[in-house]
Amino acid sequence: MHLLNDLKWRYATKHFDSSKKVSPENLSKLKQAIQLSVSSYGLQPYKVLIIENKEIRKQLQAASWGQNQIIDASHLLVFCNYNSVNNKHVEDYIKLASKLQESNIDSLNNYGDFIKQKISEISPKENYHWAYRQTYLALSNLINACAALKIDACPMEGFENEKYNDILDLSKANLNAAVIATIGYRSEKDKAQYRQKVRKPFNQLFEVI
Ligand SMILES: Cc1cc2nc3c(=O)[nH]c(=O)nc-3n(C[C@H](O)[C@H](O)[C@H](O)COP(=O)(O)O)c2cc1C
Repeated sequence: MHLLNDLKWRYATKHFDSSKKVSPENLSKLKQAIQLSVSSYGLQPYKVLIIENKEIRKQLQAASWGQNQIIDASHLLVFCNYNSVNNKHVEDYIKLASKLQESNIDSLNNYGDFIKQKISEISPKENYHWAYRQTYLALSNLINACAALKIDACPMEGFENEKYNDILDLSKANLNAAVIATIGYRSEKDKAQYRQKVRKPFNQLFEVI
């Protein structure tokens, strides 16, 4: 199983080699891995910003506990959840499904109505957190795909999301910066790559019932 070796190889990169860039071909593969992420009802209630602009990255670094990965990495990805998942998102999903699966939209509308009903039963806060959680599934696919391509990555929550929302003008698009990731290639000087992984043993992590 290649995946286990890939997962052992990867680590949360603290220092990137700023001279090395992820190629457009590999970036496209990573985008596909994100695109293929599972999501609740398949709605993918988020958008992923790929930030290359150095000036913006400098501003974002100041809102990210000063972490140097923000500017040294090849790319910075910002996973943004929709603040509220609404009927329009469901209708867009149903239209897309009908087109891609070449099926009659009427037959999918029942599913759409079911989703809309379920969404109407949750509070705005639950709606927000539900969309927020979906971004982590996409983040996870990115991290694993990076490992498969021997691209280094660091998933990151160490940032001030309100400042990100301001700098990237996200609120007007009904978006919120949920979680971020930096990708690129490790610097030889990054001591973190030589450390033993710290993971709970099976007997603490799993329980058979
Ligand atoms: C959601 C999330 C947020 C994280 N935030 C940061 C961060 O802001 N800065 C950082 O250097 N590492 C961050 N990490 C990395 C974790 O500390 C790291 O994944 C964990 O210690 C396990 O180590 P490993 O990934 O090297 O195996 C984050 C990881 C996750 C999953």
